Amino acid sequence: MLKDQYQGDADRLQDNASDLETIVDKAVSRRGFLRGGAAAMGLFLAANPLAQAVAAATKPAASKLLGFSAIPASTADTFVVPDGYNAQPLISWGDPILRGAPAFDESGSQNSAAQAGQFGDNTDGMSLFPLSEDRALLAVNNEYTNYKLLFDHKGKAMTADDVKKAQAAHGVSVFEIKQNADGSWSYLKDSAYNRRITANTHMELTGPAAGHDLMKTKADPTGKKVLGTFNNCANGQTPWGTYLTCEENFNGYFSSTDENVKLDAHQKRYGIKAKDKGYQWSSFDERFDLSKESQEANRHGWVVEIDPFDPNSTPKKRTALGRFKHENAALTIDDNGHVVVYLGDDERGEHLYKFVSKGKYNANDMRANRDLLEEGTLFVARFNAADGELKGKGEWVELTHGKNGLTKANGFADQASVMIFAREAATQVGATTMDRPEWVAVHPNNKVVCCTLTNNKHRGKKDGQPVGGPNPRINNKYGQIVRWWPANGDHTAAEFDWDLLVIAGNPTVHSGNLYAGSTNVSDENMFNSPDGIGFDQAGRLWIQTDGNYSNAKDFAGMGNNQMLCADPQTGEIRRFATGPVACEITGLTFSPDQRTMFVGIQHPGEKDKPSHFPAGGNSKPRSTIMVVRRNDGGIIGA
Ligand code: FEO
Ligand code: CA
Ligand code: CA
Repeated sequence: MLKDQYQGDADRLQDNASDLETIVDKAVSRRGFLRGGAAAMGLFLAANPLAQAVAAATKPAASKLLGFSAIPASTADTFVVPDGYNAQPLISWGDPILRGAPAFDESGSQNSAAQAGQFGDNTDGMSLFPLSEDRALLAVNNEYTNYKLLFDHKGKAMTADDVKKAQAAHGVSVFEIKQNADGSWSYLKDSAYNRRITANTHMELTGPAAGHDLMKTKADPTGKKVLGTFNNCANGQTPWGTYLTCEENFNGYFSSTDENVKLDAHQKRYGIKAKDKGYQWSSFDERFDLSKESQEANRHGWVVEIDPFDPNSTPKKRTALGRFKHENAALTIDDNGHVVVYLGDDERGEHLYKFVSKGKYNANDMRANRDLLEEGTLFVARFNAADGELKGKGEWVELTHGKNGLTKANGFADQASVMIFAREAATQVGATTMDRPEWVAVHPNNKVVCCTLTNNKHRGKKDGQPVGGPNPRINNKYGQIVRWWPANGDHTAAEFDWDLLVIAGNPTVHSGNLYAGSTNVSDENMFNSPDGIGFDQAGRLWIQTDGNYSNAKDFAGMGNNQMLCADPQTGEIRRFATGPVACEITGLTFSPDQRTMFVGIQHPGEKDKPSHFPAGGNSKPRSTIMVVRRNDGGIIGA
């Protein structure tokens, strides 16, 4: 069994356990950040699963999976890949993808119609759908937009068309790509497949919340039709050929023209505020004005399923997967045929979820799978561990109306309410508050799952965010990756075992405590805030960061945001790529032959930082998808 393989690595490295005990000892006594303090230490050291959690990755044996030479940290305004690799831009924000769309004009004066035919801003999660040997579709999220770059007036003189333009810079872009004879890739500007999905595209609400009173608005008395998707963070892909786009910080687009508007506890839990965050959508589009339409926000914060092969298809919001600030949707088909989707809610102290479909996947009839995400059961994770332990057991707690206290008396009238207010349902059942769950990735061959917990400055400081288990550090600046093995290798099982694959940290600034990171973190590979992750077919775990790029103090020596590759069996981690100034690296997908990797560079030059990526010179920085190849055409990472 896979877990035993990992355990073998841990046992082999048990010799390092005493070092780790010292680390924990100091961490506990100096900082007092592990629950129970000194009294718990005996238990902690006796059981010491930390030794396995961290030692599994201690001084890793040379990885057979990782075949490239690690690169150093960088503060350069460029995308750097290892020796023997090359990287070229595929498409940047504003490049035309629909017939008749104009070329990008960096003045910021183009109107909403131009943007609606161009690649959206701030590329994020993406998936590749093969069409033939050398052609494919890319479906790509465009998470948000930066008004300072989008408009010539930098957002200071907004008009109704400017809001439409901003809405068109959001959403999803679908376009055809082609591999050229020399192995490089281009996008096809006029392909009939190309499509822009924006904050104004017609969509259908499906599942338990569709049609519920809480989903009805003045513009849609049916509660089943909604306009658009925005703040599309990461993604998922189904084996029946559809794309999943995940709505994350949807709350930030709602505000009130009447500052005295009363907001209820549900709105507050989802971070909805009367004060505008700068988008100014409520001033020009009534459905975003909380004083005029209080329920539109209930129609956002979902996972949306899109058929990229049919540009006329209606995207479907899948309410059975719950409403929260969705990061990605990591989908797998369990051996028993059920579709399992792991889902993170990216907010400090929020939760990790799992959806299990009611129906079963039919490998012989793709059309029969089309609505598998419409009906099923949502669960939320509860992690258990003895005081100070960095591994333990966990359970998936069902979020079904009438069970686990999800009753009318506790404020849940029906299943639709449980889904619309999934965060509150998770609290009701005692789910573990996590350090910002970002992407989840399911191993392609083995029954193991990883999730990035990116960072959490509130850990240990706010009520309800106790230090311990998979969230072991107060004021967690660096983040960690938790992994779990479903009981009996069954993703639909209620129980799992967990540990930490890596605890990010800075061993040149800290020593003798967990802020130095687990022992698979060194001055050569250190990073902070792991965010995007994905396994390739061989089981390499690719890690992308969205963290502090100051390269100073706690982050000295880490440089710009970066991409790393881990061998999950040995725990070895090597730095594979570094991004340009003030970017985040997010979004990855591979060609079916694994010889091309597509990587997203988001928000280079954010907050007025000096980036001119990718064109250089004095050009405006633009979010861009990079195509990474090996000079010899070999498998990426091998
Ligand atoms: Fe869009 Fe949690 O990152
Ligand atoms: Ca992210
Ligand atoms: Ca992030």
